[in-house]
Amino acid sequence: MSTIKRGLFITFEGPEGSGKSTQLRRIAARLREEGRTVLETAEPGGTAIGMQIRRVLLDSKNLEMRPTTELLLMFAARAQNVDEAILPALSRGEIVLCDRFTDSSLVYQGIARGLGSEVVYEVDRIACRGLVPDLTIVVDIATELGLERVHGRNRKTQHVETRIDEQAIGFHRKVRDAYLQLASDEPKRVKLVDGSRSEENVEKDVWNAVLALLN
Ligand SMILES: Nc1ncnc2c1ncn2[C@@H]1O[C@H](COP(=O)(O)OP(=O)(O)O)[C@@H](O)[C@H]1O
Ligand SMILES: [Mg+2]
Repeated sequence: MSTIKRGLFITFEGPEGSGKSTQLRRIAARLREEGRTVLETAEPGGTAIGMQIRRVLLDSKNLEMRPTTELLLMFAARAQNVDEAILPALSRGEIVLCDRFTDSSLVYQGIARGLGSEVVYEVDRIACRGLVPDLTIVVDIATELGLERVHGRNRKTQHVETRIDEQAIGFHRKVRDAYLQLASDEPKRVKLVDGSRSEENVEKDVWNAVLALLN
């Protein structure tokens, strides 16, 4: 890694509609109240180039997209985000909150799409150059409830970034199970939080995990 990392890197993971983005915003606000400098970022996206890649990835018209194409585009956006935004912020000692990161590729492309975890880690080595989150919050939700929330949100915002939301229910079940497996495989880094409760109650658990890391 070319930059010295001094800050903290926290990622938010979980199925669609579990409340990742909601919790990330809440935790960012709380950290700022405590006087911390926070970078909020999201994947795919995070940078201007990443947002262009995001449009290709999530366009519901791109039905021909192959799993390997999806994997490499995700990591192309991630490589740009790591280099342009995340590592510089960490080297300034900031707290970086990232909405999805390599664990999403592991779960979606590696397991749900069936490319295998080895392939994902191989690309990760090139794109992220050893950057691993200090803490990963997995917000868990029953598949049907998560999708209900997503459909409500997408209708409200006339959302067009739906190619992955619109996968069959079996795909989303695989995603959820893979996140549960990840949390049990890596209990030190990955904290599982029950996202089916009120936003305030979910936030309590997320905040406790963040405080444990800060202290
Ligand atoms: N704990 C919660 N209870 C009920 N609705 C929630 C909760 N957290 C988030 N939502 C709502 O569910 C939808 C999806 O939340 P969002 O944070 O966008 O999920 P994600 O980023 O995981 O896809 C949004 O409309 C959001 O307002
Ligand atoms: Mg989100």
